[in-house]
Parts: sequence; C-alpha cells; structure tokens
Amino acid sequence: MEVPVIRDFREIPEGVDTGLLLECEFGMAKWAVYTTAVEYGVFDRLSSPSTAEELAERAGFHPTVTKHLLDALVGLGLLVKEGGRYRNSSLAERVLARYGFVFSSAKRHPFWGRLGRMLVEGKIEPLGGEGEPPFGDFELQRHYALRALAGEFQATLKLMEAEGIFSMIRRFIDVGGGHGIYAIGFMKTHPGLKGAILDRPEVLPIARRFVEAYGLEEKIELIAGDIFRDRVPGSYELAFISNIGLPYVPPDAIEAAFGELHRVLEPSGVLVVKEIAPHRDWAESFYQLAHQLLALVQSGDPEWLASMPTADDFMGIMRRVGFPRTKFLGWIGRWETVVMGWKTGEEDLRRTTKET
Ligand SMILES: C[S@@+](CC[C@H](N)C(=O)[O-])C[C@H]1O[C@@H](n2cnc3c(N)ncnc32)[C@H](O)[C@@H]1O
Repeated sequence: MEVPVIRDFREIPEGVDTGLLLECEFGMAKWAVYTTAVEYGVFDRLSSPSTAEELAERAGFHPTVTKHLLDALVGLGLLVKEGGRYRNSSLAERVLARYGFVFSSAKRHPFWGRLGRMLVEGKIEPLGGEGEPPFGDFELQRHYALRALAGEFQATLKLMEAEGIFSMIRRFIDVGGGHGIYAIGFMKTHPGLKGAILDRPEVLPIARRFVEAYGLEEKIELIAGDIFRDRVPGSYELAFISNIGLPYVPPDAIEAAFGELHRVLEPSGVLVVKEIAPHRDWAESFYQLAHQLLALVQSGDPEWLASMPTADDFMGIMRRVGFPRTKFLGWIGRWETVVMGWKTGEEDLRRTTKET
C-alpha cells in the first residue's frame, strides 16, 4: 500500500460521504441502544422527566451505565434532555412507551447483550482485546490519513484559518501526528512554515514515509516521545493535537500534557485540540458516544471511562495550565470538535500591540 499523495489540500474529493461511513460504522450501535432501552423498559419509565440517578434508583440500574444509555437515546432523538432531566420524545411517548417492541433481541447478542447486563449488574467480566489500536501499523495509519483527506483535514484547516492562526505562526508541532497528513497539509497550504511531528518511536518510520512522499524531509522534524511522560524539545507558536484519544485519558494526565505544551509555546503561541468529544454534553452526538460505548461494553467496567471530558472541559484544563483565553472553534461533521487556547490573554495582547 502506498502513501496517498494529493496535490490540493483544500479540495474535498468528490463523492466522499463520511456521514455514510459513520452510519455503517455505528449503525449496529443504534439498534443496540434502541433495543436495550425497549427490552429494559426505559421508555416505560420516562413519560415524566427524571435524572439518570433517579431512574437508576427506581429501576435498579447502574447509574453510570444508565447515564450513557440515556445520553445515547437523546443522541438518537428518542429522548429529550433538559436541565439534566430526561423524558420521552413525542415519538417515544406515542409509539414506544409500554408498547415498544423489537425485531431481534439485544439480550441474546454476544457483544451488545453486555450493555443490558451492565445496566443491571454493573461491572461484568471483560471481553479482553481492549487496549490501544496498533498505531505502529502502516495500514492503520494509512486509514487515518485517508480519513483525514476525506474532509476532516480540509474542515480543520478552514476553522483554523478563520481564526487567523497561520498568519501568527512560523513553527508548529503536531502532537501524536501519526501519518503526518495534518503537518504536511499545513506546510503545503502555508509554505514557509517549519513543522515537527511528535509520536511514539514505533510510529515515526510511518511518519517518515509520508513526509518523504511529499518531499518535506528538510522541513518537518520527527520527534520520538510520549506526550504524557516526556519533555517536548524545541519551541513553537502552534501546538496541534488531533485524535490522540484524550477522552480516554484522566484529567490530570491531560493537564500535564497541556502544561508541557504551554511550556514549549512562545508567548504568542496557541494550542489547538481536535478530538472525538462533544462541545458540552455527551448527548450531543450519537456517533461520538457510540464510539465510547463500544470500548465500555468491551471492558465490562462502567467506571472504566469515568471522566469522559468534553471540549468545554479541554478548555477548562487549558485555562488551568495558563491559557487565559480559549475558544470553541466548531464541529467537524457530528464526529469531532476543535478548541483553541491562547497563551497570551486579551489584556496582554492589547498591551503588546500598543508597545510595538
Ligand atoms: C488515531 S491516531 C491520530 C493520528 C492523527 N493525529 C490524525 O488525527 O489522523 C492517534 C495517534 O496519536 C498517537 N499517540 C497516542 N498517544 C500518544 C502519546 N501519549 N504520545 C504521543 N503520541 C501519542 C498514536 O501513536 C497515533 O499515531
């Protein structure tokens, strides 16, 4: 398999429908969430609004699993969430409450049957096989690269350009850059930049293959490291993170990583984070939550994803480590969100502009 080499990093290839891909990837999760809710009588109990804790208490469900299931049902449009309380949507109320039925039972499904079991039993035996994907595998990184080129890169670039980021920077670091398409695309659309990709040692040969295929080996430095453990060398005006799995990481580790990036940023520097996380609430997008539910059901442990930070939480952590100004830049489809933090606050910025 070859490195996908394209000329125009702004053009979205014709006929690419990433929404259809998400449907195919998470279609079964829709069935599973709906069917589990019917089989365990969730709609029967939500004719009047209730918090997840209240419902869990009344029904004898596990509170964390109840919250995830209810949020997923909101994402599907079958429940409504207002002020932390859930109730049936008019469809659920008119058609599903008391009479909901299913065509095939989730209870008997070897994987998704575990969701219902976790709802009533809490922690169950792990399935095994969970853990990180094999990031050092070329085919996997090529897949991530193709996904980026199918619209995610172009949309990210647009959001960052709208914020004027590339007119403020000369040197950037792509943290967990993997295949390197984001770093390569930034350089190709903004010649004159200098870049670095930081990733685990086993991933760097793949990044090198991509960087060489685009003739950028002189301009992109490759740095081996673990952002949660190692000191980052160099100094930059932009630190960029895309999908390194922050929603699976405890807040204190995220704080340490953002703190380290704050340290290597110039005073005018910015941190941009793009992740599979909602803006404020995990009920906002079914696909994002389904992505988490797959890992949760695999692990069998309701507390395995105890924190599940949102984009708002990322901005809160940024402010805590010294980025006084933060902004939600937007959604990429219903799959990812992008946020940003400035190392310099508006006050400092005004002062510097006056002085120069
Ligand atoms: C899903 S891939 C994303 C690649 C690329 N950033 C993108 O958005 O397409 C996750 C990447 O993050 C890297 N990564 C995960 N944890 C990391 C860590 N602690 N330090 C450095 N890189 C990490 C992985 O090795 C992998 O290349």
